[in-house]
Amino acid sequence: MKTEVKESVPTVVDTMGRPLRALRVSVTDRCNLRCQYCMPEEEYVWLPRETLLTFEEIVRLTNVFTTVGVDKVRITGGEPLLRKDLPSLIALLRENSKIKDIALTTNGILLKEQAQSLYDAGLHRVTVSLDTLRADRFKALTKRNTFVQVLEGIDIVNAIGFHDLKLDTVAMKGINDDELIDLIEFGKTVGGEVRFIEYMDVGGATDWSVDKVFSCAEILQTLSRHYGLIEPIIEDSWAPAKRFRLLDGTTFGIIASTTLPFCSTCDRSRLTADGLWYLCLYAKTGIDLRQPLRDGATVDELRALLVSTWNARTNRGAEERKELERVDTRGRFVEIERLRQDPHLEMHARGG
Ligand code: GTP
Ligand code: 5AD
Ligand code: SF4
Repeated sequence: MKTEVKESVPTVVDTMGRPLRALRVSVTDRCNLRCQYCMPEEEYVWLPRETLLTFEEIVRLTNVFTTVGVDKVRITGGEPLLRKDLPSLIALLRENSKIKDIALTTNGILLKEQAQSLYDAGLHRVTVSLDTLRADRFKALTKRNTFVQVLEGIDIVNAIGFHDLKLDTVAMKGINDDELIDLIEFGKTVGGEVRFIEYMDVGGATDWSVDKVFSCAEILQTLSRHYGLIEPIIEDSWAPAKRFRLLDGTTFGIIASTTLPFCSTCDRSRLTADGLWYLCLYAKTGIDLRQPLRDGATVDELRALLVSTWNARTNRGAEERKELERVDTRGRFVEIERLRQDPHLEMHARGG
């Protein structure tokens, strides 16, 4: 087993020396929005229900992951709050003291009803996707009329006392690039740090084209015209967001996966709701963990599978996508027909 020693905890590393640390667990592929950058199609093929992992199975697998270095877990979807009784999963995960951080990525619609029980169950952090502050634009972007519920959800998170609220905005040229300042100002009022995410050409982003990407450089230019000096925050971090500080002390982040990929520091992998393990956002295939689990594999056997798979990991999907620009062939990552054949290729199946 290849290992690196960091704070005397042996950690499994891949071929590029990247540790296995953050696990993103998708609990459902369903969603109650149809965001243009993620689910722009009219119809989708869903994962068969009988294949979905039970909470007990998710916890068993996650616990094996924690024996090989995972200490951060993010619950994603689809929309994770559509999964019935999510707080009980959080409570079960909290029983494992190796997990130092349990976060949730949500579109916020169902937060008003569930935030308190999630907090009581021990959830540490919440990230809410918020791409616009305009109700009409929200409807156009998501094909749903639930903007008010999202705002109510954000308010509740703040009122309950969650720390480190983050608001994630996918910045798209000509769509919401005129709202960056409003979003930062809104973030101040709810104690949330705004992170602007470059529009990515992931599976499912079937409307993606390079001219719709509002880049990190353009975001900084827009913000500095309004706020003046923007200071980069220097931190030694494996997180994808670069963070910045405005003169008044407000911080914000930019996740520049499209123009400045950060694969060399990627410690993340993804478990789909039906138990496939993806080593990269752009991986075309996943490793089936459900089958061995249901066939009665022991913890040692599962651990050996995780270690050998991670040791062999070479993925650097976002960098490879960027390299295509040099030969002018960066188009759709996956065609719609192929997404229908294998919905695991969709971002909403492998976790936003
Ligand atoms: P924390 O550091 O735990 O707060 O989370 P994070 O910074 O990883 O952010 P989060 O998990 O909320 O991810 C924000 C967005 O970054 C996602 O919705 C994706 O758009 C993008 N992102 C997250 N992980 C990856 C990744 O592994 N690769 C790429 N290319 N983009 C990612
Ligand atoms: N580009 C960038 N981020 C995306 N997400 C989904 N699709 C894309 C995309 N094409 C991320 C966003 C959203 C989360 C649920 O998934 O951050 O907030
Ligand atoms: Fe990691 Fe793949 Fe994203 Fe690169 S593209 S940062 S390797 S998940």
